[in-house]
Amino acid sequence: MANVLHLTNDTEACQSVFRVLTSASPAVYYAPMSHPAYEQLQDIAHRVAKTLPVPAFYGRHAKTIRFAGEHLAASELLSECRAYLDESKLECAHGLCHCEAVARDAGALVLIEAPGRSIGEDNAAGLFLAAELAGLLHDIKRKEKDHARLGSIEADRILKDLGLEKDYRKYIVDAIRNHEAFKGTTKADDEEGQLVSDALYDADKFRWGPENFTTTLWTIVNDCDMPPESLHRVFKEKMKGIEKIKDTFRTRTGSQFGPEIIDQGIAIGNAIYKEMCLMMEQGF
Ligand SMILES: [Fe+2]
Ligand SMILES: [Fe+2]
Repeated sequence: MANVLHLTNDTEACQSVFRVLTSASPAVYYAPMSHPAYEQLQDIAHRVAKTLPVPAFYGRHAKTIRFAGEHLAASELLSECRAYLDESKLECAHGLCHCEAVARDAGALVLIEAPGRSIGEDNAAGLFLAAELAGLLHDIKRKEKDHARLGSIEADRILKDLGLEKDYRKYIVDAIRNHEAFKGTTKADDEEGQLVSDALYDADKFRWGPENFTTTLWTIVNDCDMPPESLHRVFKEKMKGIEKIKDTFRTRTGSQFGPEIIDQGIAIGNAIYKEMCLMMEQGF
């Protein structure tokens, strides 16, 4: 595990990981669309996403991100944790692929940031695992009000069941409680806890880029059975909120690379909105 901190950057290894989340592959479709307009709009989102370059974060830190993804797929503890998401009917409104991507990027951010925060390799290895666990579980109560606080309580119960030691559970619980944008946060007791918390936040907010418009948005509108007219009404306001995310990244790496990811999402969102206005004129 400690060797992963010596991974050098690689410009191509992780591009496919990013592409799968923004492509029209069956893996990213959550359910059939509730309205034909949404199918057209999602197609536009995929078309625009394909024209955009892979964000620099996924190129610059490709090896680390790939390592995090491979660990996520192979770790026994993470797979036991995933079983709780699958089997206990706990709702993950953004879809499992959102949680997997957050887990992978949160783990990668811990590995990238640890040396700059004077955290040693052995210590970073445990925090890396904690960040991936936090990513998998962070939206476990997504459909409930106050989902961050309720999710942190549920995550603690699950991780206790899985026998995770108390210190790591606390890092994860605090990170999940602190993961919402524009809400008050509690400062972690130590640098290690702060790193897991900041990494989870940034990895979650990376999803407000292209993935939000190619995948997550459609999961949400289908899930709420939202009519296209209602989406049109709130779209511009929601886009303003996404723009503000750019100033909220909490790690150095997130602040460096996050705004580009968000800008790509906004470019796709603008294309969707333009088409939605035309559809609106014609009565959807
Ligand atoms: Fe959340
Ligand atoms: Fe999330």
